[in-house]
Amino acid sequence: MYCTRKVTESVHWVGASDRRLALFENLFPIPRGVSYNSYLIDDEKTALLDTVDASVSAQFMENVLHVLDGRALDYLVINHMEPDHCANIAALALRFPEMKLVGNAKTFLFLRQFYDLDLTGRTVTVKEGDTLCLGSHTLRFVMAPMVHWPEVMVSYEESEQILFSADAFGSFGAINGNLFQDEVDFDRDWLDDARRYYTNIVGKYGPQVQAALKKLAGVEIAMICPLHGPVWRGDLGYLLGKYDLWSRYEPEEQAVAIFYASMYGDTESAANVLAAGLAEGGVKKVAVYDVSVTHVSTLIAEAFRCSHLVFAAPTYNAGVYPAMANFLEDMKNLSVQKRTVGLIENGTWAPMSGKQMRAALEGMKQMRILEPTVTLKSALKADSRAALDQLRDAILADLAPQG
Ligand code: FEO
Repeated sequence: MYCTRKVTESVHWVGASDRRLALFENLFPIPRGVSYNSYLIDDEKTALLDTVDASVSAQFMENVLHVLDGRALDYLVINHMEPDHCANIAALALRFPEMKLVGNAKTFLFLRQFYDLDLTGRTVTVKEGDTLCLGSHTLRFVMAPMVHWPEVMVSYEESEQILFSADAFGSFGAINGNLFQDEVDFDRDWLDDARRYYTNIVGKYGPQVQAALKKLAGVEIAMICPLHGPVWRGDLGYLLGKYDLWSRYEPEEQAVAIFYASMYGDTESAANVLAAGLAEGGVKKVAVYDVSVTHVSTLIAEAFRCSHLVFAAPTYNAGVYPAMANFLEDMKNLSVQKRTVGLIENGTWAPMSGKQMRAALEGMKQMRILEPTVTLKSALKADSRAALDQLRDAILADLAPQG
């Protein structure tokens, strides 16, 4: 059965959600599922903006056919050629032989790489600023390269001021009937997944996101329709503000996250003592994560959220404990920067993890390392406790007053 929602009188959500998939991109856990959004504009001409993942093809096709109600599909606009959005292009091209495919030069390069479709006479190649008139609706195309693939563009519908934003402004999480941001408690139920989605998938491309935001700065936007997660029809400043912070790698909050690795509980104990000391010093909402049991995508999202990060890890094979080493490498790859950090190392006979974690952090941009690095020889004792208290005091002195 079809399952659609009206975005406006003539724009329809025809996407679908997958609550069975364990790992998005076979990489990121999505316990709340994920939606693949697709939008159909019903005007003198009909236009579909992007398709959906193969997992929800049947639902999607029912939705499209329901909204078309016997009409043909005139245009398929391809804002993004990643398979979670383009898996149904071939099926649509077969079902609607008159349908034109709208994309940029790179869109069609990638389309031919993924699929064997005869597109002769069926492509409309657009570039920056080109428009497509559908009747009372007109789409204007704005290139957004590397947000987060090179062919990405966004489509701005001029009459209703709707931005079809591709992956930008998207989130993990299934659509549970409530399509719009004002129908959900976004801060409570969605923000963490939106941050985890952005930081892990788009995070590396902050400068490109900034470039796209600048291009759109003078455009009146009433609604944002992303390819995943809720549609925004109000409070756009909130969302744009988050994207501005994330893409400039500025922390969202003056907050402390302590990331620890621990084999037998001794490094964990030091992390707990530090957390309690910070709390005694007035720091609220201290976040503590065991990197061995927390997915690295959550660790990354927290590194983007918090201003102060502490890394505590044992020495392992004369290096950094693997789960921590992996996290630090992911931070570097995703361009995490501009944080104030503290270090706790452990080693029973030759502690090395502090030095190597320091080197990893110094390889990132604008990381400020607080002193001292705390060295545990197997377990926290009086001398290392004194150093840990010094690190706590350095963090407290550095934090802005807590509200
Ligand atoms: Fe949702 Fe970049 O694909």
